[in-house]
Amino acid sequence: MRHLSVPSAQTQHWLELCRANHWNSNQAGVTRLEDGRNAIPLADTAPNESDPVWSGNPHLELVIQPKAPSHWLDHFDSELAAKYSEALPRSYEVQGDILIVKIEDEVQEYGEMIADAMLTQLPNIRLVCADLGVKGEYRVRELQPLASRDGTVSTRTRIKENGYLLWVDPSAVYFSSRLSNERVETLATAKQLRSHLGQPLVVCDPYAGVGPSMGALLSEIDLVSGCLVGDLNPDAYALLELNIEHLVRRRKDSKGNPSTPLFPMEVACCDAKAWPLEVKNVGTVDLLLVNLPHHSIEHIPALLSLLKTDQTTILRGWAIVERSVIPEKEIEIHDSISSLGGVIEKFTFNEVKGFSTTKSFMCFEVWLNLPA
Ligand SMILES: C[S@@+](CC[C@H](N)C(=O)[O-])C[C@H]1O[C@@H](n2cnc3c(N)ncnc32)[C@H](O)[C@@H]1O
Repeated sequence: MRHLSVPSAQTQHWLELCRANHWNSNQAGVTRLEDGRNAIPLADTAPNESDPVWSGNPHLELVIQPKAPSHWLDHFDSELAAKYSEALPRSYEVQGDILIVKIEDEVQEYGEMIADAMLTQLPNIRLVCADLGVKGEYRVRELQPLASRDGTVSTRTRIKENGYLLWVDPSAVYFSSRLSNERVETLATAKQLRSHLGQPLVVCDPYAGVGPSMGALLSEIDLVSGCLVGDLNPDAYALLELNIEHLVRRRKDSKGNPSTPLFPMEVACCDAKAWPLEVKNVGTVDLLLVNLPHHSIEHIPALLSLLKTDQTTILRGWAIVERSVIPEKEIEIHDSISSLGGVIEKFTFNEVKGFSTTKSFMCFEVWLNLPA
């Protein structure tokens, strides 16, 4: 294969020039030569050795061991890869054995070829789907199957997060692995509250989706004594039931014996605001999670009566907020607690990085004490 020989100190400069002009070949990596020079593999389209663009650096033929493919593009038509280098997907999301990718309009017609190349590169992927955006009341993504390894196009799959397994279905239920750190933080908060109270917690997660937060909490020994979990989306509820049943079944105490049964213990397909309407649920919860980011803050007043009184409890939730109204939203959370005569012991309202740039994805955590 034809290579460009350059002084090793200039390798980066020549690599960048070749990449910018699509003159380098992906078939091989840079080869170190014996004379303090490096050899950059060239594509057939690169100019001849006599071209002034090379500043007199010589070309040479090297026999190279073909590089093992390390990227799906290595299995994609190289001319199309060069022609559409800007439009072809640079990232994708994986949920279990499903890969979800946004396909730009310009390369729509190559969707199946892209998906085939991805299946070739990624042996653990069964199904590649195009992400057509969020739809409907439950803000679920519309997915279009592009290629399947075994002919099945079901989007139900199982993921492992922080050590626990969860059934998910990206075409029917919201789930974001990007929030897994938030689940780690929720667990840390819950452990602090358990230490503070000196006893395990009753947790309420009324917008639970498939139940990832409960995955984190129920996997911790002697942390949870009871739980109220639910979701309004029937598809989410079906998976939530499966996940909670599995999580509860594998709970062990500190001696490795099956844990004592949870009480209260309820998994429901219902509107979050329905939980406090049942008298038996009022004043039963130590840790309340509110994860309906476009509406969390306005839902808080309807949910607070679930919390126990005359002791420290925690309200933890997530909200998407215009940057300019963050202080107002903070006051709104404060007011919903103080209007009940509650005392705020600790309050944080922090941005979760890595989400929308125009709005802020915020996490609020309030340690509070409500009067009886
Ligand atoms: C942003 S998702 C959060 C899901 C889950 N907590 C997670 O972290 O993956 C919000 C969830 O709330 C559910 N939902 C929407 N409106 C609801 C309501 N009024 N009551 C209960 N659940 C609701 C949706 O179906 C969705 O699963």
